[in-house]
Amino acid sequence: MEEFKITPWEVEGKVDYKNLIEKFGLKEIDDKLLERLKKITKDLHVLIRRKYFFAHRDLEIVLDEYEKKKGFFLYTGRGPSGPMHIGHLIPFLFTKWLQEKFKVNVYIELTDDEKFLEPKRNLTLEETKKWSYENILDIIAVGFDPERTFIFQDTEYIKNMYPLALKIAKKINFSTAKAVFGFTNETNIGLIFFPSLEIAPTFFEEKICLIPAAVDQDPFWRLQRDVAEKLGKRKSAQIHSKFLPPLTGIEGKMSASKPETAIYLSDNEKTVREKIYKHAFSGGQPTVELHRKLGGNPEIDVSFQWLKILFEEDDKKIKKIEEDYRSGKLLTGELKDMLIEKIVKFLEKHNEKRREARDLVNVFKYEGQLAKEMWKRIHQ
Ligand code: TYM
Repeated sequence: MEEFKITPWEVEGKVDYKNLIEKFGLKEIDDKLLERLKKITKDLHVLIRRKYFFAHRDLEIVLDEYEKKKGFFLYTGRGPSGPMHIGHLIPFLFTKWLQEKFKVNVYIELTDDEKFLEPKRNLTLEETKKWSYENILDIIAVGFDPERTFIFQDTEYIKNMYPLALKIAKKINFSTAKAVFGFTNETNIGLIFFPSLEIAPTFFEEKICLIPAAVDQDPFWRLQRDVAEKLGKRKSAQIHSKFLPPLTGIEGKMSASKPETAIYLSDNEKTVREKIYKHAFSGGQPTVELHRKLGGNPEIDVSFQWLKILFEEDDKKIKKIEEDYRSGKLLTGELKDMLIEKIVKFLEKHNEKRREARDLVNVFKYEGQLAKEMWKRIHQ
């Protein structure tokens, strides 16, 4: 088997998701669980219907608690290291859907501290603060309920999380942190303490916490479950997605540090077109004649995979596209055009919402109902 590496700060090699389920002690999202979810939500978001969210821990317990009217809450986040790409938005799109269906609170953490501390990024605190603001606009644009959503930025909110973070930190020794995150003697001590701040929000309510994110964040949650027991608190539940593949090939993850692999939320139509034409890895044949004769391979074709993961929600249409591509009826260029059209529309809508988001930042951070509740919980 090929080697791959996943930590919150590094993803390398071809990720074997089946193997990950075993390695990380996850459970597969199977048809039975989807049926159960659908009974409650009536429909299923494309990201889970096609099993892009592929694994979980304790999702059954979350649904049990919901059905017993005990409820749950959602928690997710973003490390503000630069502009967001489409991959970064995926957990937020899905979290928003869950919020809409279950009418629950959502907590969103911006780890400006983490991105400052990560050595390879070389960012100043001023830069990570600036990116926090920019990223918050993209997150708000997704459409969260302003009364049930609280967005907070670590360097601002630290005073309120510090007592909790200390309790967490005291239960994690260096040897465990090394094993989970791959820390070495060269790791700065800021980063060594940081996990307690990503874990803290999982204890913001007494209810069970459900975390939608890509699987790279899992090391935090393994540690969270360990610490929760020791603190007499609740273990969090997770729902994990795969990585949106980079434009350049089906392996690895879209990465902000390699611009040609990613579509940014701020890319204009021309850039989207150019990037997809130039870089989107094709499963087609080298010539039209050969393609008509032999057909293309949708499994490795990034344009097809992006359509399937998110951009073509109609199940009948995606099936037809797959068949036509496989048979050679549909050419790579035509497939790329379909994707470009979808992405351009998606980004236009997103950026319209993003412009409106400027007026909402204070609501999500300070003035909305949940933001105020958080303030009260701490100051009373
Ligand atoms: P960050 O900023 O690296 O990523 C933000 C979210 O996007 C997910 N993600 C992806 N999903 C699909 N395809 C990709 N190519 C891709 N790349 C990243 C990440 O899993 C994440 O959910 N430390 C975190 C911030 C954070 C957080 C959290 C994330 C704080 N608390 C709670 C999730 C849940 C970070 O730097 O994320």
